[in-house]
Amino acid sequence: MRSSNSVALKAYAKINLGLRVIGRRRDGFHELRTIYQTISLADHLEVRLAAGPPAVSLETAGIEVPPGRQNLAVRAAEAVLQELNLRRKVTVFLRKRIPSGSGLGGSSSDAAAVIRAVLHLAGKKMPADRLLALAARLGSDVPFFFLGGRALGIGRGEEVYPLQEEPRRYCVLLYPGRSMDTATAFRRLRAPLLTSPSTRHTIELFCGSVGKGIWPRLGNDFEPVVFSAFRGLAAVKRSLLRSGAVMASLTGSGSVVFGVFEDYSQAQTAARRLRRPGADVFVARTVSRRELQDPLPGIVTAK
Ligand code: C5P
Repeated sequence: MRSSNSVALKAYAKINLGLRVIGRRRDGFHELRTIYQTISLADHLEVRLAAGPPAVSLETAGIEVPPGRQNLAVRAAEAVLQELNLRRKVTVFLRKRIPSGSGLGGSSSDAAAVIRAVLHLAGKKMPADRLLALAARLGSDVPFFFLGGRALGIGRGEEVYPLQEEPRRYCVLLYPGRSMDTATAFRRLRAPLLTSPSTRHTIELFCGSVGKGIWPRLGNDFEPVVFSAFRGLAAVKRSLLRSGAVMASLTGSGSVVFGVFEDYSQAQTAARRLRRPGADVFVARTVSRRELQDPLPGIVTAK
């Protein structure tokens, strides 16, 4: 019998170092090529498991989040209880720090963290293929959060492969306080804006160059759509590059724009230049896969 029935853990955000949308698929989703990178900006969760009929409750602090089943963390807990046929009550305390609708994958990361926590507290393991299939049903980028570090994402973004990691870098992120939902952003990517066949292999070329100290400047196909909807974001990207970023880009379908810096003080200076009313500016660092190692990646305390 386990003495502990609760665990506290972090759910790290991600950035997309490049994101190419190749075309619309028969299932309505879009075929992607992307490179994910975990960063240190994180939501903090505490997950409790108690005896009782299967039920999930959510308590929150920090940035406002959707309540109940509208929240992916709740649906993730329900999905894992059902998958394992577990008769338990799950309580999730979520301190939200990653802005929603930002392209930082916060709700997907929360979902992955809840699944890991429930498995850990119930003393259960799931084969990787079943776990990743469950994650992919919850959202296209949920599987990435079981891998972390730097990874290639293909298909809907749910098929992930580890890539060689680079030394620690610093990221400056600006959230403009507004966002466009992912489905709308994909709809607005009209055919002429989709990656042309001639650029399809950019990411494959990049994968061949990893480990050679080259920072990708792959581009993000959502930039024209999101930059035209939110004036000022293109200027944020230019400001980050002028401040010495080795690359700057929109992440996911936005609306966060980030820059990557080799030097922490340079990142802080760039962040100071960006601060403005109505926008949130964060400085974070890259988090490697090694830092997220099993048995329970991201655990900060276990009671
Ligand atoms: O999978 P996820 O829930 O994150 O996707 C949200 C929405 O974004 C989908 O319903 C779909 O409209 C769009 N999407 C897409 N192609 C992808 C991923 C997401 O069209 N590869």
